[in-house]
Amino acid sequence: MSDMPFPATPRVDALDKVRGRPIFGADDARPGLLHAALAVATIGKGRITALDTKAASAVPGVRLVLTHETVGTVKSAGFIIGGGYAFQSFQPMLSPAIAHRGQYIALIAADTLEAAIEAAHLVKASYVVEPHSVTLDAPGTETVNQADTPLNNFFPEIHAGDADNAYSDAAVKIEAVFNCPPQHQNPIELIATVAEWQGDKLVIHESTQNAEAIRHGVATALGLEPEQVEVISPFAGGGFGQKNSLQMQTVMAAVAARQTGRPVKLVVPRSSGFHGASFRPASRHHIRLGADKSGKMLAAIHEVDAQTSRRDLFPGEYAATSSRLYGYQSFRGLERLVHTDVQTPGYMRAPFEHPACFAMESCVDELAYELGQDPVALRLANDTTRDTATGRPFSSRHVGECLRRGAERFGWERRSMAPQSMHGDDGTQIGWGVATGTYPGIIVPAIARLKVTDDGRVVISVGGHEMGQGIRTALANAVARKLGVPPERVAAVVGDTRAVPQHLTAGSWGTASAIPTAIDAADAMLKALAELTHGNVAARAPAQILKAAGRPSLEVEAQRKAPGQPDAIFARLRSGLPSIGGPVYGDYVTFSYIAHFVEVRIEPNTRRIRVPRVVSVADCGRVVSPRTAESQVRGGVVWGIGATLREASEVDPRFGGFLNADLAEYVLPVNADIGSIEVEFIDKPDFTFNNAGAKGLGEVSMTGVAAAIANAVFHATGRRLRDLPIRIEHLL
Ligand code: MOS
Repeated sequence: MSDMPFPATPRVDALDKVRGRPIFGADDARPGLLHAALAVATIGKGRITALDTKAASAVPGVRLVLTHETVGTVKSAGFIIGGGYAFQSFQPMLSPAIAHRGQYIALIAADTLEAAIEAAHLVKASYVVEPHSVTLDAPGTETVNQADTPLNNFFPEIHAGDADNAYSDAAVKIEAVFNCPPQHQNPIELIATVAEWQGDKLVIHESTQNAEAIRHGVATALGLEPEQVEVISPFAGGGFGQKNSLQMQTVMAAVAARQTGRPVKLVVPRSSGFHGASFRPASRHHIRLGADKSGKMLAAIHEVDAQTSRRDLFPGEYAATSSRLYGYQSFRGLERLVHTDVQTPGYMRAPFEHPACFAMESCVDELAYELGQDPVALRLANDTTRDTATGRPFSSRHVGECLRRGAERFGWERRSMAPQSMHGDDGTQIGWGVATGTYPGIIVPAIARLKVTDDGRVVISVGGHEMGQGIRTALANAVARKLGVPPERVAAVVGDTRAVPQHLTAGSWGTASAIPTAIDAADAMLKALAELTHGNVAARAPAQILKAAGRPSLEVEAQRKAPGQPDAIFARLRSGLPSIGGPVYGDYVTFSYIAHFVEVRIEPNTRRIRVPRVVSVADCGRVVSPRTAESQVRGGVVWGIGATLREASEVDPRFGGFLNADLAEYVLPVNADIGSIEVEFIDKPDFTFNNAGAKGLGEVSMTGVAAAIANAVFHATGRRLRDLPIRIEHLL
């Protein structure tokens, strides 16, 4: 355990990446590969009564038209929240049922992609149409209290003190409702599967955050032993939660490969990515925040209605976030799930934390204005060292320092409090806003295998996936420092079920899970090397020690789990099931924090909102890889700007599904939308949490961005906007 900051090592795979060397899921172009395309449902809900595939089959080059009538014996791999492996329990193409618009109804495999696409358009389906409900308020939805479902065992309501009475007695009350739209992850690398049978063995190349779930899920669906399936995913071009479990195309590509006896490549078009994988559900937040006249927060109540699908219960954990922002004297959280006719929603980068922080941190700004207190000072005055929800202490919490450093760097003391009081020379309205964000500190079990060879190479195999965040660089930094070798000599094997077990990489737990295990493995290696040199390790590099001892290589293994997890968790890890520990551990609670300071400029005539400047200061414990960490925070802030000012998956109640299902109509921020983003880290290690002192970073980066922007818009215009996204039309 070293208390030294880590060096800003350049990204170890940067050179390869800019030269196009990494192999992604859809890069396979071998001779003999069949190309697949999908036909999709054109109704909002119902049942197929007839499928005419004659014209599709007649297209030259078509080798297979796969439908529910020809798929053979296949079963659902099960819902990942219910002990299965897929993002939803409903596997399309196993029956005539249509759960939602855009659902897959046929897969065509052909010699060329062109033939497959042409044939997909020629599949003719007849339907019985049933009424559908897609939005939270549509007639025909059904709402359940999460506490009345089996989810209550894992995500219970939060009741700390008597929040209802404390709220009704409070001298100052803020009450507001916030709406967050459905959104889709849209990783630039499309969802894609290459499936290939080698005798009885199935090899799947797919960019994923969860190679082990694909392996076990496909095995379940096809009745195979998990040992018969290999999943290879060295890189993913973004995942953001969309690639965190088995999707609906993978099993079908494997069936097509088996039926045709040829490898099949299926690249899911952007439009189908809006319906064949998970998304961020719509959510509505009713917040009540009560304080005394000094600003002490006496009570907060956070009630949420969140969208789920008709068949599955995708849990809401919104209040689990908002309850961690301050030292409220009492708190009550309630989640309701609204069944709608969509594919099952899932985790989209900061899934609960982004909407929860938007709602609560907007209310805290309202409270500051109600009290006439500076928004930073009000937040500092309500900071805490004790978790309201559980009564336990935080293992570390430096959100106050994030606020103080951010305020200084941003120049917050030059802000005038009154709304509409700051202007540019051209009449532009200027607003300065602040908000904090938080994200749970989670650890999952990991197994690491570390090998050094006498030519100086070091290979670390560990559970983890590289989806752009830089896990290889973080691993190289941690292992290199321990072993005293240059980081560029450390290669990492991740995302490959042929190596060690691959737990889902999500929830910003990658660093706090893989790095401590890699450090354990490096410690074991130092011990093994010391045995070779009779205790004199410091004198020589590992390769020299091996040469002197006449050993070509040395390999060690280490395993690690979250504090308090039973040993049986490793069996769960090996079976590809989520094995998540935290954020509440035996006697403490762990969260990461961030403070964002945002400047908006609103053009007086068009009301166009720009974000020229952001300062973000994060407390993620020890920063293991400063270069990639800074890039994570920049990316998170950009993602937050998109979530606040651009992104919404649009529903036309007449049709169902999501209509703006492409990058032309699903509006994202582009380079011209992004100004200066300054990033700073507290970089104080949390050794209570693990031996690396690292908490988690990816997702906390975007939490609070939406509230900081909305609060800045209020400061600029005097208008509170509580529905996302905030667009020009809301300021006209
Ligand atoms: Mo991420 S939304 O935790 O895959």
